[in-house]
Amino acid sequence: MEPQEQMLEVSGWLRTRRDSGSRSFLELSDGSSLQNLQVLVEDSLEGRQTLQRQLNTGAALRVRGRLLPSPAKGQRLELRAEAITILGEADSASYPLQKKRHSFEFLRTITHLRSRTNALGAVARIRNTLSFAIHRFFQEQGFIQVHTPIITTSDCEGAGEMFTVTTLAAGTGTDPDYSRDFFGRHAGLTVSGQLQAEVYALSHSRVYTFGPTFRAENSNTTRHLAEFWMVEPEMAFCDLEGNMRVAEDLLRFVTSALLKENEADLALFERHIEQGLVHKLSQLETQEFRRLTYSEAISALEQSGRNFTFPVHWGMDLQAEHERYLCEELMQGPLFITNYPAALKPFYMRLDEGEKTVAAMDLLVPGIGELIGGSQREERLDLLQARMQAAGLDLAQYGWYLDLRRYGSVPHAGFGLGFERLVQFCTGMQNIREAILFPRSPGQAPC
Ligand code: 4AD
Ligand code: MG
Repeated sequence: MEPQEQMLEVSGWLRTRRDSGSRSFLELSDGSSLQNLQVLVEDSLEGRQTLQRQLNTGAALRVRGRLLPSPAKGQRLELRAEAITILGEADSASYPLQKKRHSFEFLRTITHLRSRTNALGAVARIRNTLSFAIHRFFQEQGFIQVHTPIITTSDCEGAGEMFTVTTLAAGTGTDPDYSRDFFGRHAGLTVSGQLQAEVYALSHSRVYTFGPTFRAENSNTTRHLAEFWMVEPEMAFCDLEGNMRVAEDLLRFVTSALLKENEADLALFERHIEQGLVHKLSQLETQEFRRLTYSEAISALEQSGRNFTFPVHWGMDLQAEHERYLCEELMQGPLFITNYPAALKPFYMRLDEGEKTVAAMDLLVPGIGELIGGSQREERLDLLQARMQAAGLDLAQYGWYLDLRRYGSVPHAGFGLGFERLVQFCTGMQNIREAILFPRSPGQAPC
């Protein structure tokens, strides 16, 4: 039997129905790819009258039929139905996904249904490919995956953005006595797995963690989520230079996997969201990742002749307008900015000679800004203690972290890549809420 003529049974959801004379054409999707299967329903099909009322957009069906070459353009095969079973109806008067295109704002109000649209369906597949490629990259390079805790008593970034985890009754008006709480002290959802990844880097050399992170950041921007996924490698016997190389290799590896495996999905985003997307991603393969120290970046901004809203001076935090100028205009591609002023960065970053700056690196990419943040870590006990004290940390609570510097301390480095920002970069999605399946942001956590 010719493969084209085989009998086939398929299941999926009806995307659209088009009636033409005595026939109907169904577009059936099972979510495995962007491409639907066209199902031809002829008048002679048994039960056609009843079916016609039930074959609505959104309904779930099982179709048995014969796979035949399709005379229509844009598809090789179609399925001529010989039996159709309605598995789950969808009332056309109330099913919200009736139009061909809905705004992303509207789709956010139905996060439980938006996965059935072309764009959000493609985001899920792209996340899958990127996620698997990230694991493959690290596994092939001899890293081991470590599972760092979600509930923690350490605020890695020290930015006070931890969500509290408590079993104490709320509403006393005063700060609760956390010594009576479940963990006997204040605990929260992790803002980063880094500190615990360091524990395993100092026993297993090259490790990575890839898990959910949480930030009670009350900023409603297109780049921030309250819950997001972060990829965090941590490497012993590694300095800032080695750290940047791994970041670069990782980004090249995962984007090239995506170009190979999700061609149709990327073409969709190229068509509707970001013209030039595929070229941008392909270019990464050969494109040089530029580097500037923070001090060089400040000089470049001063010499730009631009009138920035936030005036430029050494010691200031780079704002989006500065990052955009440097990355998109000056370098026109990925750009590492390194050696930021110590005062702008967390306590764990290694002090440079001169002690004004730290061995930090941020990777900026066009359209997104900061995609990766990392550093070489402070491995010298006395300097680390001083930084922690200056940051107002209770050293008694971080004894375990200091022990890593007391016993077998080595130069080590790592970084965090925001997975949703990577998905944004790879799809062109304007808002990060379309880069995650179930976005959480201030006032928003519908399901
Ligand atoms: O720069 P960040 O805060 O670095 C850390 O947390 C380090 N402890 C990582 C490490 O060295 N292991 O965060 C890392 C990345 C950012 O560059 C950004 O891509 C992403 O995480 N990120 C967010 N993504 C979405 N929503 C937020 N609120 C984010 N905050 C950071
Ligand atoms: Mg950062």
